[in-house]
Amino acid sequence: MSAESDFQLCKKDGLLTLIRVGDPSLGAVSVDFDDKTMAWRQRYPQQPEALLKASGVRAGQSLRVIDATAGLGQDAFMLAHAGCNVLMLERSLLLHALLEDGLQRAAQSEDVRVRNAAARMQLVLADSTSIDFATLGDTPDVIYLDPMFPERRKKSAKVKKNMFMLQQLLDDEPPADGLLLKALQSAQKRVVVKRPRIAGFLEERKPSFQLLGSSSRFDIYMTQPTSRVSTSS
Ligand SMILES: C[S@@+](CC[C@H](N)C(=O)[O-])C[C@H]1O[C@@H](n2cnc3c(N)ncnc32)[C@H](O)[C@@H]1O
Repeated sequence: MSAESDFQLCKKDGLLTLIRVGDPSLGAVSVDFDDKTMAWRQRYPQQPEALLKASGVRAGQSLRVIDATAGLGQDAFMLAHAGCNVLMLERSLLLHALLEDGLQRAAQSEDVRVRNAAARMQLVLADSTSIDFATLGDTPDVIYLDPMFPERRKKSAKVKKNMFMLQQLLDDEPPADGLLLKALQSAQKRVVVKRPRIAGFLEERKPSFQLLGSSSRFDIYMTQPTSRVSTSS
């Protein structure tokens, strides 16, 4: 078990970095939209393609997306890179600070694609289960959810370093109960939920359709116009 108080932020090589106090083996996590991992994702876009397809992104169309579980902002960045205007909501103070730092540096990037994507990203420190989406501006076309799930909290060789750190940091966090239903009532076009391939449906709601990736899947819930979910469902 661990809590946010076991972690601290420090500046390392110009990046705001999250470390676990007294446990350097866990490594250090930053938000760097210029880093090799993001470049890799842009060059070999297998997973991002699934994310973009799941979100209904089309060339020349600028969707308004709320990423209600922003984390390290990697998915949000891919959506912004593809032309979406993305509002990121993150409830962890520490992760919000990392995202803010990452966005500031991305705005100064030498890579115009990174600068352009950053210009389409906004960040709010908020709990998505309690904030009123209507107060955040125009109705979103898409709401994207990638909540932590218990299976991810187990240590596994497959779990990437950053995600393992997030699991440790957010171990005590309450689940985002009711977030899917709320999103279904707020998104103009669709809600996209990222899940492990073998996990059950979020809030036990069957999606309109699914897209499978190598280790995860996207459950897509169409909300327009006739399939919009009512409060009684
Ligand atoms: C699996 S991570 C998301 C990873 C993200 N998709 C990425 O690409 O980096 C889940 C994140 O959702 C955040 N989160 C969970 N419930 C939330 C809520 N109700 N409101 C805001 N953020 C939430 C957690 O703090 C965590 O940072």
